[in-house]
Amino acid sequence: EIIDAKDKIISPSFCDIHVHFRDPGQTYKEDIRTGSMAAVAGGYTTVVCMPNTFPAIDEVSIVRYVIEKGEEVGLCRVLPAAAITKGRKGKELTEMALLKDAGAVYFTDDGAPVMDSFIMRKAMEYAGSIGSFVADHCEDLNLSNNGVAHEGEIAAALGLPPLPPEAEDTMVARNCVLSIQTGMPVHICHISSRLSVEIVAWAKALGAKVTAEVTPHHLSLTDDEWLDFDCKAKVSPPLREHKDVEAVRWGLEAGIIDFVATDHAPHAHHEKMLEHQNCPPGMIGLQFALPTVLNLVKKDYFDLEKAIRVLSTEPMKKIGLKPPAIKVGETAELVIFDPFESWEVNEETILSKSKNTPLLGKKIEGKVKYTFYNGKIVYSDSSGVSCG
Ligand code: NCD
Ligand code: ZN
Ligand code: ZN
Ligand code: ZN
Repeated sequence: EIIDAKDKIISPSFCDIHVHFRDPGQTYKEDIRTGSMAAVAGGYTTVVCMPNTFPAIDEVSIVRYVIEKGEEVGLCRVLPAAAITKGRKGKELTEMALLKDAGAVYFTDDGAPVMDSFIMRKAMEYAGSIGSFVADHCEDLNLSNNGVAHEGEIAAALGLPPLPPEAEDTMVARNCVLSIQTGMPVHICHISSRLSVEIVAWAKALGAKVTAEVTPHHLSLTDDEWLDFDCKAKVSPPLREHKDVEAVRWGLEAGIIDFVATDHAPHAHHEKMLEHQNCPPGMIGLQFALPTVLNLVKKDYFDLEKAIRVLSTEPMKKIGLKPPAIKVGETAELVIFDPFESWEVNEETILSKSKNTPLLGKKIEGKVKYTFYNGKIVYSDSSGVSCG
């Protein structure tokens, strides 16, 4: 095959440390095979799966299941994050040392924001002491009070129960304080509000081992999406206001936010059709990260090299992996993309099992042409996904 890379960018392939592949237990939304397909179509060759599966990834056998199924599919490196607490119930710590030995790359109860400060501190100390880290979905349920949309004009106009940003900010601050106090690392999942970015900047200035990720949707969309898309706009944390989008862009540019993670959260069509209170939060993201980050390059927030760092090198470093190097004599693991080619987001171009995104029907710019993993083409724009 002749690869035409004229006017294309060749880059180390990407790494997403926050995806929900729903496997085991909710494979009608996504599974490790379809999730891997979406990953390589987005230029990713490393993904870390969240433990909010059924059963939860809180035992060695489930850690092994995820790794083995990922290897069987063979499209990319599929690694598990294990739960911090048994059953993700916020009470009893899992056997982190055993889970790490089995291949869990970090620990999180993402999606279950119920952990009190006492157990969070113990978790930070345990994970840190074995050379790993905890990541937290920062949300104070008391302050969220069953809200569904960011507290602001849009929620008020549509009569949607409001979710104040303080629900996020207070827990980001709490986690930063615990990290400073214990001297152990903490990773902030899907940061979304202006004050949270300022709190992380403050904690980093004090020398805290705090890192933070931001999603493509929080870098590009506001709560205005509720006007057109109703529950397709529902996600946790919620889409916020222009000032927050500006803050996370600036935070990424300034290195306060360390890298991009998609929080790829597939849900079935019938679930997203439920009315706002019962519809599950989440949107897919694996195929939209590159276009979103390229848009920030085009808008002059940062250059292409920085874009590649936040999509590839930085997240790989965070989970202790050597970034894919593009060197003579090394096995190819890379992506070739066209930064200007535009494509329509639709049922055919989305390779996830679920199609829940407010981008459905829209055109976006930045297209993956080839993804190489383990020396082979695992995805090409013209022939799709190729297994083996
Ligand atoms: C996630 C999910 O669907 O599992 N939903 C979401 O809106 N982000 C849970 C989570 O990451 O908090
Ligand atoms: Zn979360
Ligand atoms: Zn607006
Ligand atoms: Zn998540």
